[in-house]
Amino acid sequence: MFEETYTVREAEVRDETEIAGLVVEGFLDKFRPIFGRGMDRSVWIMEKWVRLEHTVGGVRSLVVEVAATGEIAASVGVRVGESDDDALSGGLWESLKRALGFLRASWAATLLSYPRYAASYREAYVERLVVSPAHRNGGMARALLDASEDLARETGKATVGLHVSAGNIPALRLYESYGYEEVSEQRSVLTGYFLGIRSWLYLRKEIQDKFGRDGA
Ligand SMILES: CC(C)(COP(=O)(O)OP(=O)(O)OC[C@H]1O[C@@H](n2cnc3c(N)ncnc32)[C@H](O)[C@@H]1OP(=O)(O)O)[C@@H](O)C(=O)NCCC(=O)NCCS
Repeated sequence: MFEETYTVREAEVRDETEIAGLVVEGFLDKFRPIFGRGMDRSVWIMEKWVRLEHTVGGVRSLVVEVAATGEIAASVGVRVGESDDDALSGGLWESLKRALGFLRASWAATLLSYPRYAASYREAYVERLVVSPAHRNGGMARALLDASEDLARETGKATVGLHVSAGNIPALRLYESYGYEEVSEQRSVLTGYFLGIRSWLYLRKEIQDKFGRDGA
């Protein structure tokens, strides 16, 4: 297989539109039933969400930039700081309402609230890991996971946590190969029926500091 040269770096404000596009593309099966006829506004909504996460959500994003083209081919969000959850949910609600109208926004907000996660200051939370379809199976997800764990160590975290839908075999294989273990399962009839996701798995991994010691 042709090996691309790429770098992993922290995202900047100018990357937020591309990150939003990647996330929508990577999770189309989830977003189509959520946004319905408002699907053409999904990238705009996601861009607002990523901006909110960066400004009030304690999230830092990492991106993979392809050397030859400058394209952003993959990204991940890592929550390592404190989150202002009221500002986050209020901001998302405003964007949804503006883009979709009250009724569809209520529907979207309900489905987007899964999976539920209670943040802990000891844990870095990995979310919206995505690699553009054209660049998959080239090690980019691994590179982002390595960088996420480095970020967790740098910010003094003891564990890295994440959610994955139970049927997402590529992602599950990836996380298992990194030593992530299932801690709990969240079932939802609602997401089962409308998104085809009956169950969300919460996985966690203890990380070692640079001296090889467990936890922070
Ligand atoms: C999951 C995803 C991020 C993997 O990205 P990727 O760049 O293809 O992954 P990598 O090339 O770094 O692969 C690393 C490992 O992932 C696993 N993997 C990736 N694709 C796989 C597949 N189709 N089937 C089984 N395992 C797979 C394997 O363990 C692989 O290691 P190996 O090459 O030694 O077998 C990508 O498929 C994606 O973006 N999916 C859509 C969004 C998504 O589901 N994100 C996860 C949210 S929890």
